[in-house]
Amino acid sequence: MTVIEVSASKNYFVEIGSGLLPTLGPKVAALGKVQKVCIVSDSNVWPLYGAAADASLHMAGLSTCAFVFSAGEESKCGATYLELLNFLAENRLTRSDIIVALGGGVVGDLAGFAAASYLRGIRFVQVPTTLLAAVDSSVGGKTAIDLPAGKNLAGAFCQPSLVLCDTDCLNSLPEDIFRDGCAEVIKTAILFDEPLFMELVRDGLHFDRERVIAACVAHKRDVVHADEFDRGVRQLLNLGHTVGHGAEAMSDFTLSHGKAVAIGTAIVARAAAKRGICSQGTATRIMWLLEKVELPIFTHHTAAELAQMALSDKKRSGDTVNLVVPEAIGRCSLLPTPVDAVEEFIQAGL
Ligand code: GLY
Repeated sequence: MTVIEVSASKNYFVEIGSGLLPTLGPKVAALGKVQKVCIVSDSNVWPLYGAAADASLHMAGLSTCAFVFSAGEESKCGATYLELLNFLAENRLTRSDIIVALGGGVVGDLAGFAAASYLRGIRFVQVPTTLLAAVDSSVGGKTAIDLPAGKNLAGAFCQPSLVLCDTDCLNSLPEDIFRDGCAEVIKTAILFDEPLFMELVRDGLHFDRERVIAACVAHKRDVVHADEFDRGVRQLLNLGHTVGHGAEAMSDFTLSHGKAVAIGTAIVARAAAKRGICSQGTATRIMWLLEKVELPIFTHHTAAELAQMALSDKKRSGDTVNLVVPEAIGRCSLLPTPVDAVEEFIQAGL
């Protein structure tokens, strides 16, 4: 098992390894003062891991209730969020009780936002069951729901009390979903870690899970430590996301987040090479790795369509958007770009 400590407005441990789910109960009990735990999960994950999580909590002397919602991004909405808050109230969770988010990014975001707001904030534990959640969304305290006007438009920064990542849970992931998570792993390697990039070049999808997840979490820990509230360096984690969001939104969210991030990363890499921000070799290496794990690198949408959707994203600040651009593998920077120049930048990378 690898343990990483995150220091932010709250200090907590991220535990990564095989066979950790049965240890959930004692670890939640050890957080102290808890009597009741609400497990929040979705209709894909609950049938696989709900019973094991519930049994472990019971054996640790905790009483439980479970809120299971229909799997999918559509559920990360105001209606499910209010249902969850009502469920917590009906089950009389108190300020000392705990929510366990058992699932991928949607579960973590929704459960985390409920934890941030129920009774003005109760503790929550992340148990990520997808690669994307393990390497990115379960760590760092971003929680949110979507609004009709866009993704993640209502949310809060709220750090978990513990992240328990059982790498065995990734065994049940459909390959396509695992690949989606790889987009975030590749993103981390491009941002901070050339040796990790080379390891992925060598191993493709068959990388050492505990080690690679731990490497990504360690980088995220450093970023969150430096900029918990996303005012500076944390924005680097948006590599591929702003333009990718355009592709995701243009597809009416039928394109998965990971594939959209892959397309966005490839577009900014090609544009950065054309502008002389990175070498053509860097852009080619990025595209080669994305293609090796069978992620897409092109879109049929126009630069105007992508820019319009990308700019409706919350990452915009006034008349400028900070695009994240690679300078080399392992080194990226923020490129403040006037909103009316974003289309031209995207066009250079199509
Ligand atoms: N997922 C990007 C961040 O946590 O900032």
